[in-house]
Amino acid sequence: MQKEPILRVEGLRTTFTGDEGTVVAVDDVSFDVNEGEIVGLIGESGSGKSVTALAIMGLLPKSTSQVTAERIMFDGRNLARASDREMRRLRGGSIGMIFQEPMSSLNPVLKIGDQLIEPIRIHERISYRAAFDRGVELLTKVGIPSPVQRMNDYPHQLSGGMRQRVMIAIALSCSPKLLLADEPTTALDVTIQAQLLDLLLEIQAETKMAIVLITHSMGVIAECADKVVVMYSGRIAEQGPVTDIFDRPGHPYTKGLMQCTPELTGNPRRLTTIPGALPSLSALPPGCRFAPRCGLAQPACEAGRPPMIGVGQNHASACIRADELVASAAQPEGAEV
Ligand SMILES: Nc1ncnc2c1ncn2[C@@H]1O[C@H](COP(=O)(O)OP(=O)(O)OP(=O)(O)O)[C@@H](O)[C@H]1O
Ligand SMILES: [Mg+2]
Repeated sequence: MQKEPILRVEGLRTTFTGDEGTVVAVDDVSFDVNEGEIVGLIGESGSGKSVTALAIMGLLPKSTSQVTAERIMFDGRNLARASDREMRRLRGGSIGMIFQEPMSSLNPVLKIGDQLIEPIRIHERISYRAAFDRGVELLTKVGIPSPVQRMNDYPHQLSGGMRQRVMIAIALSCSPKLLLADEPTTALDVTIQAQLLDLLLEIQAETKMAIVLITHSMGVIAECADKVVVMYSGRIAEQGPVTDIFDRPGHPYTKGLMQCTPELTGNPRRLTTIPGALPSLSALPPGCRFAPRCGLAQPACEAGRPPMIGVGQNHASACIRADELVASAAQPEGAEV
């Protein structure tokens, strides 16, 4: 019998209400994360990746946002029905998080050591000394030199890369079963990004925790992920195992993202972009939201929301031409749709 996924998101929807009314930022998003799996969540800026992660964690502002879901099952519990208290216990406990901006996630007036020790002592009733030792061990694990001294430093005394390593250490401090990593390396330079991704992969191989890795980069997905969920304008455009998606993308948006990735096109000097931009949440097209930018769009694409079409095992695409796209990818060069 197949094991239940560690995280199963079903029908997640998030709206924001402001002066100009209510907009739907995440619309009917469903995906699974199996134990020990790395799932890449990709899409252009504004596609709803962070909102998805924050909604799962119950971290969106209650005054302006509304989150609904059929179910958000994590390790046997439905987070969609969990109390604030239960969510607080899970966050930083069985679910670790790393955010886009390490400077805004670390408290500038607290020493690194205190920020590491506090969550450990909240989640596990151990002595200060034992938690301090664990903190030092974690800093060592994430490659921070002189870890005992660093415990007494404040965040501003560390470089951006070192701060992000501290964030990783904090996220790992209670041995989470699931890590939500929202662009954990974007703010850093390329070499440091690569080092930190390698570090995350190393730790994942050792701990077997599941990771939802949010990124802009198909290159990062290719290197790290087992499965990929492609988001566009608050909805899932395509999802499936990484090899299937790379070999046989079933959505023109996924193809576009791949063609914009120099490491994948074999032409690192040619920078391509997908023409056009994401629609505004207050003026969404009625049919496929990608249709206005899609070279393959037909009148039917504008008529209604495209259904998810299965194009392989656990591989589905929200494009009415998905079968055609997948079939053409299986053809020799030059015969593509
Ligand atoms: N607190 C909020 N109030 C109102 N709208 C919001 C709020 N947070 C996000 N949004 C809107 O929701 C949409 C999705 O935003 P989100 O931050 O999830 O995008 P993203 O995919 O993470 O982008 P990026 O790659 O830039 O991080 C955007 O249109 C954004 O403006
Ligand atoms: Mg984001």
